[in-house]
Amino acid sequence: MKIYAAKDYNDLSRKAANIISAQVILKPNAVLGLATGSTPVGAYKQMIEWHKKGDLDFSRVRSVNLDEYKGLSGDHDQSYRYFMNHNLFDHVNIDKANTNVPNGLAEDPAAECRRYDQVIRDMGGIDLQLLGIGGNGHIGFNEPCDVFEKGTHVVTLTEETRKSNARFFSSIDEVPTHALTMGIQGIMSAGKILLLASGEAKAKAVYDSCFGPVVPGVPASVLQLHRDVIVIADEAALTLVRENEKWGGQIYDN
Ligand code: F6R
Repeated sequence: MKIYAAKDYNDLSRKAANIISAQVILKPNAVLGLATGSTPVGAYKQMIEWHKKGDLDFSRVRSVNLDEYKGLSGDHDQSYRYFMNHNLFDHVNIDKANTNVPNGLAEDPAAECRRYDQVIRDMGGIDLQLLGIGGNGHIGFNEPCDVFEKGTHVVTLTEETRKSNARFFSSIDEVPTHALTMGIQGIMSAGKILLLASGEAKAKAVYDSCFGPVVPGVPASVLQLHRDVIVIADEAALTLVRENEKWGGQIYDN
């Protein structure tokens, strides 16, 4: 695991966009594992800019998103399909037929989860998985629990996650209670993982995930077992790592 300090959110976004772009340049038909939430928005904006300048071609890129709210259709403005269209896909030359987000309206969610894992297998796995992190250490919607759930599955969202995501809805009652999420095996089988963290609210999750014990109570801690993880975090998110002399020196500064 390599941890890079970003000066601020813009710097974090540029660094992340550079790494994702490098993946697309090295393998034009790369499979990108993508995330929603506020953290990756700046990186998506930067990639859109580079695409518009003619520097980045998504025509052969394939993508698979981490998760989707159960019960929301793809055209609901808080669905993750809508988010991806709005924040990236509508502005670059990706073929939407090559983009995948779990179907939040599937009549048989368990079958949808199995289908989603098969989609990932059929694409030959994920080359680069982009991740944000929850304040409770969740990745995708793998919430803290007793076991690492392997495959794509339906999850009950914690109150903490629903409260945190309520900022995107008009009230907390509108935040769905369940989601479909890629499992830990899907995430861990990606060739490369890029985790982004911004803001002090993520400081404990970053510290525990990078240096604490590997336990399902902190889902992102499992990333310590992956051989190619890059963490890009701003100073606020690195506060606890910096404070701990033992680990503070593990950061790549610039
Ligand atoms: C989003 C996702 C979540 C978010 C996490 C952080 O697809 O899977 O794990 O990455 O909740 O969200 P933000 O970036 O809004 O702080």
